[in-house]
Amino acid sequence: MNARDRLAALRGPHRVLPSILSADFAALAASFLPLEEAGCEVLHLDVMDGHFVPNITFGPPLVKSIRARSHAFLDTHLMIDDPLRYLEPFARAGSDLCTVHCELPLDPAALAAEAARVDTCLGVAIRPSTSLDAAVERWAPFVDLILVMSVEPGFGGQKFMPAAVERLQRAAEISARHGVAPILEVDGGIDANTAPLVRAGGASWLVAGSAVFGNPSPVDAWRQLSRD
Ligand code: DX5
Ligand code: ZN
Repeated sequence: MNARDRLAALRGPHRVLPSILSADFAALAASFLPLEEAGCEVLHLDVMDGHFVPNITFGPPLVKSIRARSHAFLDTHLMIDDPLRYLEPFARAGSDLCTVHCELPLDPAALAAEAARVDTCLGVAIRPSTSLDAAVERWAPFVDLILVMSVEPGFGGQKFMPAAVERLQRAAEISARHGVAPILEVDGGIDANTAPLVRAGGASWLVAGSAVFGNPSPVDAWRQLSRD
């Protein structure tokens, strides 16, 4: 099954995607395997290069190690300067979807062609400070997913920015005008209080880092957040 087909099987219900950024990197499999046993089918992986964002996390070798243990769809958020160069290594390591940032000088058609060539799905992420309309107009025809950031990317545990709700609605409207329906994902500050707001805004994939792994029982937290 190719990456597009694997993604098609995940459309539909709302999902909460644990972001391993907030997990214990020395005990990663022990962090995500209980979630998968509880029914979690998508993990969010935050890749940071110390240039596009000030923080540094991990690269393809860690994705490969996760792939070896995980059955989940690996949603990879690339907060890096040159994503075109790295789609292939991440796809080979096991990323099912790679999301690139619209603030970079990128050609959406070139990214989409490369994603198809290396068999990974493509998403585009939009920072809170970026003009959303222009980004969605430009990228919607080429992507499987639009990630509306609800914090400035770089760190877990930040406060949710409420403007994301209206930005999700706008992203859906503009996409519909282009005759496409990318998955709408939201990332940053999602917890029991903000999850209902972004669902109402049209988000179907909700990333949650500290709300899941900062809880003494990540499985309970994930289940609670996943409930409607
Ligand atoms: C931030 C990352 C997020 C982060 C979210 O740059 O993109 O995925 O893990 O963390 P919380 O849920 O703690 O805001
Ligand atoms: Zn992220």
